[in-house]
Amino acid sequence: MTAYITTPIYYVNAQPHLGHAYTTIVADTYSRYRRLCGDTVRFQTGTDEHGDKIVEAAEKENKQPQEYVDAVSAMFRQTWELLKISPDNFIRTTDPVHIRTVQHILQKVYEQGDIYFDEYSGLYCKGCERFLTEKELVDGNCPDHQTAPREITEQNYFFRMSKYQQQLIDHIQENPEFITPERYRNEVLSFLSEPLEDLCISRPTSRLTWGIPLPFDRDFVTYVWFDALINYLTGIGYPDGEDFQQYWEVAEHLIAKDILKPHAIYWPTMLMAIGLKPYAKLHVHGYWNVDDTKMSKSIGNVIRPAELVEQYGRDELRYFVLREMSFGLDSSFGHDAVIARKNSDLANDLGNLFSRSLAMLHKYCGGVAPSPGGQREPSDILLIETAEHMLADYRKYMQIFQFHKGLQAVWELVSQANKFIVVNEPWALAKDETKRVRLDTVLYNLLESLRLLALTISPVMPETAEKMVRGLGLQEKTDLTLSLTSGGRWGLFPAGVSMAQTAPLFPRVDVGEKIKKTDSSKAGPETKKTAEEGLITFEQFKKTELRVAEIISAEAVEKSDKLMLLTVQAHEQRTIVAGIAEHYSPDELIGMQVILVANMKPARIMGLRSEGMLLAAKSVENGRERLVLTTVSAPVPNGSSVA
Ligand code: ME8
Ligand code: MG
Repeated sequence: MTAYITTPIYYVNAQPHLGHAYTTIVADTYSRYRRLCGDTVRFQTGTDEHGDKIVEAAEKENKQPQEYVDAVSAMFRQTWELLKISPDNFIRTTDPVHIRTVQHILQKVYEQGDIYFDEYSGLYCKGCERFLTEKELVDGNCPDHQTAPREITEQNYFFRMSKYQQQLIDHIQENPEFITPERYRNEVLSFLSEPLEDLCISRPTSRLTWGIPLPFDRDFVTYVWFDALINYLTGIGYPDGEDFQQYWEVAEHLIAKDILKPHAIYWPTMLMAIGLKPYAKLHVHGYWNVDDTKMSKSIGNVIRPAELVEQYGRDELRYFVLREMSFGLDSSFGHDAVIARKNSDLANDLGNLFSRSLAMLHKYCGGVAPSPGGQREPSDILLIETAEHMLADYRKYMQIFQFHKGLQAVWELVSQANKFIVVNEPWALAKDETKRVRLDTVLYNLLESLRLLALTISPVMPETAEKMVRGLGLQEKTDLTLSLTSGGRWGLFPAGVSMAQTAPLFPRVDVGEKIKKTDSSKAGPETKKTAEEGLITFEQFKKTELRVAEIISAEAVEKSDKLMLLTVQAHEQRTIVAGIAEHYSPDELIGMQVILVANMKPARIMGLRSEGMLLAAKSVENGRERLVLTTVSAPVPNGSSVA
């Protein structure tokens, strides 16, 4: 079978946050899962780069729109690499192919009479990039962006969406899986129970030029949704590409509920007008919240995925979001919850099972996989049944996007295997020569459990699965470890393979120093003593968070000879006021990668906010002080920690 899975293309008016990461991790996991089932998969993500919001964001950074979108789009790609997310295609709405396809579609729909010119006035929310209806407002504000929409009256082009209303209702009713979970399907049907208005699809170039020109009227550009949604077609080569033939009919879109309407209403009616079948499925998830509020760039309460990877590890983050969120419902993000999952599910349960089992294998079998023998005992039967149930439940839930349940099923086996060790006491068996066959069987069963665990966690934690497969000596047995069809059964572990020693899968997080917001003013007695001696401990040194940052802008501070105002890019952007104006010109600084003290309390210097310090060597030469900034000896990703 084939699968085509997409994420929304994200606006480049801000950097990726955990919400974007979640959707993209889900898409990556689902792609890997389908490949594990032997399917041919295409996974697409990308960036949405036109519109008012983007122009505004570029202006704020004193950049041309193109230069700006190039930079932010690259950040999205880097974040996906960091999370080991591997899309087959990364699409950008500024790609020339995409622009041609959008214009081709506009022309076609216009010629058949489904686009017309009219005057319109309505309430426009810039955050949503669409007109809202009165009913959608809460206390006069957009509920998602908590801002009042603006009343706009202008002449524009409209898509005859109303014409396709009944056809859409019929389609949703005939295809119960078209929109899932069901609550969102009901929401859409209830919205469609009232007459649908036509969709405004243009902006006059007098108001916005950063968009795709309408082919039939150069004084207008397309409205963002008529541009953005078409990415799902462009990315597979519509209209003539081979991939289009192969993938369109299996298209599955993945979104959060914020963009349900554009995907469940605008897009299928657009497809009907284009003369295409609607996509196959729309999977809708809830929000990641922080303190009961949606995590969003407009509110500013965002969590950066790169920082979480740095603090907890990449597979740990992937596991956490998939295990913690019930797909479809909202979830609250908290560091404590990440640490709890990491320490308990990962380090304790899975990590210990792996380490203990392999340690016993090395100790009692010289690191060579034994063969099972003798009669199956009740504990064997229970373990094998658990494994078989696990495989069935896992497949059932992964297929329907219930990842947390899929993982729960996997952890049933983890826990049963840990109990299996306790019940069988391999260390006791090892003391009795006559129990050799039983010892071999017990260890074999553990190895086989671990193999099935590596196989099933691989879509979620690809790196950990790889480590397990290597630890189990199975790296060459790809049929047993990369495929549910040939490897997804009990009893296939090849006896005789030998295993190397391996490191623990998950280092534990020390709860005492979990979050790097330690208050340095509360130095304990120990700190005082060592400070007297002029020496610090490693723990104290570690409190200084050093990171590589690239200087992206520099200007002299007015009325100061010494100070310069810098913008630096670590994971995030910061402004720094640095006393280096006598030593560097702004031009020399731009592009330089320097070392940032990243956990300083922000300070105000001459009325400017400074969010950190830079390291520099200081010397006195010919009676004058000289400062030379500390840099790295080879380029590294911005935000890298300095240890
Ligand atoms: O809407 N919780 O882009 P966008 C969960 N360009 N997921 C979240 C989230 C949160 N708090 N915040 C964002 C756009 N997301 C358009 C899409 S598609 C043709 C055009 C995720 O940058 C989630 O997937 O605002 C959501 O649907 C998407 O980011 C919105 O990203
Ligand atoms: Mg948004």
